[in-house]
Amino acid sequence: MTPGSGPGRGRHATAAHRPASEPAPAAPAVPELSVPGPSVAGMSDAIVVEGLVKRYGATTALAGVDLTVAEGSVLGLLGPNGAGKTTVVRILSTLLVPDEGRAEVVGLDVVRDDDAVRAAIGLTGQYAAVDEYLTGYENLEMVGRLYRLSKAEARSRAGELLERFDLAAAAGRPAKTYSGGMRRRLDIAASLINRPRVLFLDEPTTGLDPRSRLAMWDFIAELADGGTTILLTTQYLEEADRLADRMVVIDRGQVIARGTADELKAQVGGQRLELTVTDAAVLPAMVEALRPLAVDEPLVDVQAKRLSLPVSGGAEVLAEALRRLDGSIHQIFDVGLRRPDLDDVFLALTGRVADDVPTDDEQPAEPVPTGGAR
Ligand SMILES: Nc1ncnc2c1ncn2[C@@H]1O[C@H](COP(=O)(O)OP(=O)(O)OP(=O)(O)O)[C@@H](O)[C@H]1O
Ligand SMILES: [Mg+2]
Repeated sequence: MTPGSGPGRGRHATAAHRPASEPAPAAPAVPELSVPGPSVAGMSDAIVVEGLVKRYGATTALAGVDLTVAEGSVLGLLGPNGAGKTTVVRILSTLLVPDEGRAEVVGLDVVRDDDAVRAAIGLTGQYAAVDEYLTGYENLEMVGRLYRLSKAEARSRAGELLERFDLAAAAGRPAKTYSGGMRRRLDIAASLINRPRVLFLDEPTTGLDPRSRLAMWDFIAELADGGTTILLTTQYLEEADRLADRMVVIDRGQVIARGTADELKAQVGGQRLELTVTDAAVLPAMVEALRPLAVDEPLVDVQAKRLSLPVSGGAEVLAEALRRLDGSIHQIFDVGLRRPDLDDVFLALTGRVADDVPTDDEQPAEPVPTGGAR
């Protein structure tokens, strides 16, 4: 369907056989989880970013970001609020000019060859960009016309995409009557009108309910399997794990880690056994009873009456933990196994919890949402 398609390219199969081509990070302090690749763009890189810097007044949004995305692969760009994810996407999609560094998309410079870049890419911004008063069908037809498709072409492409994104039944309704999940799907459909080789998805599932999120993941995986190169930003490790071949984690405008999901998770230390007790006084004894099961230092939060123990293994660890705590089982309020999330990645990589950058003085980087898309 899209140029660069290859038959039967499974998400993880592709990842496993692709040579590591990430350039070495600029700062030596960055933990390198993958084998450092050449710093020159490989033939097969659809996106190449080198030393990207962007400042907004006193705020340095990007402080020298390097990354590459192999043709036909999916890169997950992870980071907390204010990390610089949208800024990267906006530069790569020609909406913003960097202060320093360079970026190429399908071999085209995003500043010098901006028109050609725009023709080759699709962008689904962080906030829905649909026209509220037009129907789903009219929205897509309009975008098709903006891409200079003929009227007939725009119409047939609109119909095809509405079908594909399960919106055919709602095609004749104004977009303002759509749910958040439907808007998001319409938004992605619009970004595919021109059959882009490279697709940027900025937080495609933020604000969606679990069912819509799963459906969106299926759509994105399908696009990826069709050979579209995708750069998606997310705050959810699980999402990147599910969809991305490789991940780049940014924090305060800098890359703090890069690698495959497994490499990142290995860094974080796999599952955690989490235990909340009714009285914090019992925590020290519990730590000692459980320490043999831990693969790393247990974390104790006295205030929250909580104990978090990095473990390896599944249900059997939980069973063993409960056996060891048999005498004090009545003191346990809650217990369970939890998979690491982005907060754990940050804690492991930076030794601190991801900070929520204050948003009061922020100017919206994209149109303020007019509906419930986020
Ligand atoms: N137009 C702007 N004017 C001033 N500062 C901005 C502007 N856009 C972004 N910033 C700042 O640049 C930094 C990076 O913002 P960016 O939107 O790229 O982060 P993000 O990772 O996408 O965050 P989020 O998860 O909240 O979407 C933040 O500190 C933000 O306040
Ligand atoms: Mg953003």
